[in-house]
Amino acid sequence: MTPPGPEFASGGQRPIEIVRGEGAYLWDATGRRYVDLGATHGVGNLGASPPEVAEAIARQARALLYLGSGYRSPVRTAFLERLLALLPPSFGSVFLSNSGTEAVETAIKIARGATGRPGVVAAFRGFHGRTLGSLSATWRRELREPFEPLVPGFAHVPFNDAAALDAAVTEQTALVLLEPVQGEGGVHVATPEFLRAARAAADRTGALLAFDEVQTGIGRTGRMFAFERWGIVPDLLTLAKSLAGGVPIGATVTTPEVEARFRGTHHSTFGGNPLACAAGLAALELAVRERLPERAERLGLRAQERLRSLPTRSVREVRGLGLLLGIELRERVAPALAELERRGYLAISAGPSVLRLLPPLVIPDAEWDRALDTVAEVVGGG
Ligand SMILES: Cc1ncc(COP(=O)(O)O)c(C=O)c1O
Repeated sequence: MTPPGPEFASGGQRPIEIVRGEGAYLWDATGRRYVDLGATHGVGNLGASPPEVAEAIARQARALLYLGSGYRSPVRTAFLERLLALLPPSFGSVFLSNSGTEAVETAIKIARGATGRPGVVAAFRGFHGRTLGSLSATWRRELREPFEPLVPGFAHVPFNDAAALDAAVTEQTALVLLEPVQGEGGVHVATPEFLRAARAAADRTGALLAFDEVQTGIGRTGRMFAFERWGIVPDLLTLAKSLAGGVPIGATVTTPEVEARFRGTHHSTFGGNPLACAAGLAALELAVRERLPERAERLGLRAQERLRSLPTRSVREVRGLGLLLGIELRERVAPALAELERRGYLAISAGPSVLRLLPPLVIPDAEWDRALDTVAEVVGGG
């Protein structure tokens, strides 16, 4: 369907104009309020327009709007130190960009540039972005096919199949790239055995292990970063979406050892700009102060309990971790999304039959309970 207007919106668009947001709420141009159950596609973990982030942006914009990475920037240093302080001590080096796909592109380039090898092993149902490198790691055929040939050297193995992963990783592998919880691919949680096998295969062959936490990072799954739950530490970590509270950002975190081995150059004009760094610093401070990972854990457990009681005639499975939840329906999800929207709830899908709930982590308890009741009514008749 071609949208009426100047926007190249090939993926479809809802006919609602959103003009304002606060916490877990969004308002359309007519003044109608919606509860945002998709955190504006995973970006709004801290809510829409968190005031502290907005303030930090305004302050920084008045002081210095743009500075490239060719100069040192105190706000960039402060942001990176804050981010690294939240991560295991093996990490010590961050490349900043402007989006999730760039963070993944950077991880692929760092891995190839540090190992001198071409191979990347990713997973069935994985989603890592839509530029040609990250798209080569993305699984879904309909996203890939119109743009082939993609980048050579990429292989995919069944998610959570430790033996298949082990067999696919060889001395030619630069990178093993996995989401700890697959978001776009239908909300599938990795088993600890699978992640352990990925770590072991990378260690055995000298490949690097990357966790793509673009969607799972910043408290979403009940930990600040999903991998913390299992204590399996990767060599590379990709972050974006809510890292700067809504301002475009991407981050590829790695170890000083990997950086020292990297051959080649990589650069981004806008990556690490002061505006995004000021927003990122404010966002991280807010996430820590408000204990958002603990909130996600608590509200997520409550939701799983509630949703697991849904009648199995309409719901095939409920999956997820923290406040990244997937309800796999026995039918297509589009009518349920439309009905939720009619009732004032904006949810999103994860594939044709999975209703995905990833509300802002600041959603009030009572609002979340009402949302779950409404979801239960819509998908299962209460
Ligand atoms: C795990 C993961 N990686 C990468 C991306 C791509 O991020 P962006 O849309 O910012 O390029 C996404 C987006 O949904 C994602 O969920």
